[in-house]
Amino acid sequence: MTSTSLSVPEQLRAALDRLLDGLPQRQAASAVERLMAGYRGQSPAGAPVLRDRADAVAYAAYRMPATFAAVSAALRRLAARLPGWTPGGHLDLGGGTGAAVWAAAEIWPDGDRETVVLDRAGPAIDLGRELVRLAPGSPLRAAQWRLESIGATPPAIPALPLTDLVTVSYVLGELPEAVRDAVVDAVARAGAAVVLVEPGTPDGYLRIRAARDRLVAAGLRVLAPCPHDGACPIAVGSDWCHFAARVSRSALHRRVKGGVLPYEDEKFAYVAAVRPGPDPAATPDPARIVRRPLLRKGQVLLDLCTRDEGLRRETVSKRRGPEYRAARDAGWGESWPVSPDYPSEPVSGQDVRHTGDQTVQ
Ligand SMILES: C[S@@+](CC[C@H](N)C(=O)[O-])C[C@H]1O[C@@H](n2cnc3c(N)ncnc32)[C@H](O)[C@@H]1O
Repeated sequence: MTSTSLSVPEQLRAALDRLLDGLPQRQAASAVERLMAGYRGQSPAGAPVLRDRADAVAYAAYRMPATFAAVSAALRRLAARLPGWTPGGHLDLGGGTGAAVWAAAEIWPDGDRETVVLDRAGPAIDLGRELVRLAPGSPLRAAQWRLESIGATPPAIPALPLTDLVTVSYVLGELPEAVRDAVVDAVARAGAAVVLVEPGTPDGYLRIRAARDRLVAAGLRVLAPCPHDGACPIAVGSDWCHFAARVSRSALHRRVKGGVLPYEDEKFAYVAAVRPGPDPAATPDPARIVRRPLLRKGQVLLDLCTRDEGLRRETVSKRRGPEYRAARDAGWGESWPVSPDYPSEPVSGQDVRHTGDQTVQ
């Protein structure tokens, strides 16, 4: 297995297809072209703005399945360390058309959740709301969609309600650095669990790395992907930590994106951290596979980021029987049980919760 494979939920896929059906092909193609031109020249000042419905539809058709897959993979890593935990509240900052809330709804389908999506782009908010309505039986119908700009005039970061889960997916790169830091500090105060996702580029990684440092400084514990809260062992400029999520494309999606493959690999960088409760057993995985495993004759080479030994390569030979078979099946981004000495008990989820309806600044 080379990358996590994720499909957009059927309800969302059907809603997206219905949306695209209503948009003339040429209009969709030119909106996608405009959007991509914006992303190619991306800078905080020049990030593409979802100005109208065509832009928002193009974003939903062109990017949302991929951002959904990335944020879903990151949330699954968090959920794997918090079995039994279901967030009772979810705030998605810069949520756009709602990729992260769809991902959360799939991972934690049970329980009443107060879901809030906040974004500065009216057309994205409107479309997100519409997608939910187009999806019969969607658990997201009660979500609140709020038109709001975060940190337009620093340091005026909006008051964020305390909530169990805060996601910030593919947004940090659109914020000027000073605003970005203030937003990360604000989500560190607001969320019992915080998941930040960025494109899997060197710059995206650096933004996640800087944000991770701020989350740790604010007292949160990193649960994924890092196996520890210490300094990232990667020498800046030499490499970057990122993962891949395989996204299957619908025929319609392929038409809009102009591709022929039935899938694409979305590269992403992320961090998932929690505010520790009294449970001292809260631990991340002992080691993570940080590169695509290399299959050799009778061997699997795993590049690992480990809790105690930093980055290292482990060669798992056929002689190791079950471990070899596990290594052969292991995927980039998964955890690896390097040694039975490492306990990998999951965190007790009960403590990861904000209660009350306080608001932090
Ligand atoms: C690349 S899109 C990501 C959308 C969504 N989170 C996802 O993963 O698909 C970035 C979003 O951030 C929003 N955004 C950028 N700067 C913002 C700000 N200052 N306040 C609120 N939203 C912002 C944009 O409007 C856009 O919807």
